[in-house]
Amino acid sequence: MTAYDLARGLHILAVIAWMAGLLFLPRLYAYDAEQAAKPEPLRSEMQTLLRAWQKRLLRIILNPAMILSWGFGLWLIHIDTQARGWGFLLEPWMVAKLSGVILLTAWHGFLAGQRKRIAAGTSTRSARFWRMTNEIPFLLAIVMVLSVTTEWRW
Ligand code: HEM
Repeated sequence: MTAYDLARGLHILAVIAWMAGLLFLPRLYAYDAEQAAKPEPLRSEMQTLLRAWQKRLLRIILNPAMILSWGFGLWLIHIDTQARGWGFLLEPWMVAKLSGVILLTAWHGFLAGQRKRIAAGTSTRSARFWRMTNEIPFLLAIVMVLSVTTEWRW
């Protein structure tokens, strides 16, 4: 076993946890938005519960998983540069991978900001918005995973 094999395995595990959280959190936001149509006290009770889950999901799963995905990913870059220099960072497959990573990180930041707005009762996003955008992380994951597994060039 090499350090590269270990880093790759740990990177994939962290990415699985990050993706799971990114796919689940907007569902909780959609359920939260749907409570607006419910009568009191059911509405307040459900929103209190859902907002506690949203906060915990971000704090316990999403934020640590993102940090670990970045940490192991940067470790892989470090090992890769020793084996093949810095040039691979500019190859099309790696540019596609890193672009996906930046977009995914921006989406994570957007979701974290929206959690605060939902908790403060100032969110204007509908349940439909959260259902429609729910596939964004998975679409980005397709690009990122196939970029690294194929290392395609034109
Ligand atoms: C968070 C920042 C990330 C960085 C800095 C990063 C960087 C890297 C690097 C340098 C490699 C090794 C590439 C190679 O030499 O073959 C790698 C492998 C990999 N990455 Fe990432 N990555 C990140 C996030 C992600 C995400 C979000 C996904 C999927 C959604 C992902 C999926 C993978 C997979 C599946 C591999 C293994 C490819 C293989 O062994 O063939 N990574 N990553």
